[in-house]
Amino acid sequence: MDTNRLSKSIEAALNAQMTKEAHASQIYLSYAAWADSQGFGGIANFLFRHAQEERNHMMKILEYILKRGAEVQVTAIPAPASNPVSINNCFEKILEHEIDNTKAIYKVVKMSLEEEDWATWNFMQWFVKEQIEEETLAMNLLDKAKIAGGENMSGDARYVLDKDLEKTPDKASSAEDATTANP
Ligand code: FEO
Repeated sequence: MDTNRLSKSIEAALNAQMTKEAHASQIYLSYAAWADSQGFGGIANFLFRHAQEERNHMMKILEYILKRGAEVQVTAIPAPASNPVSINNCFEKILEHEIDNTKAIYKVVKMSLEEEDWATWNFMQWFVKEQIEEETLAMNLLDKAKIAGGENMSGDARYVLDKDLEKTPDKASSAEDATTANP
């Protein structure tokens, strides 16, 4: 009896998204190493932590494929993009990457909708919500960089921003949790 509960197309799409999350982890890892090499230990700390979060995203998809009786295909991970040229550029590249990842996730959601695979559609809603948070987190980074002077950040501003990022939580607050007392 065939116990694979995923179609071949969904199985392939999920495997591709799993690799994309591993790729995301490599991107954060490489940017973290770049930040550290520039002396920005706080930014590196934040990005190293985020690299781990992307590995967790990869693991969730891997587990889902297995639990649906389908085949996991661990493949080569593409090389990360080139190093940033500044803190501002680093955060821009992160937001671009997250938007690209959101688009990839939406494709899987659309595919599951078209195939009426409600289990995968439901599973992917976690990622839809997560991407709102991931994009918010990246936008918050860019806001901080802008306030600190963008491409014209002074040495003092870079120092303060780096210290701030060391303590910045991994999670951004979500709109669903907002109240008038706690916006
Ligand atoms: Fe796995 Fe940054 O999204």
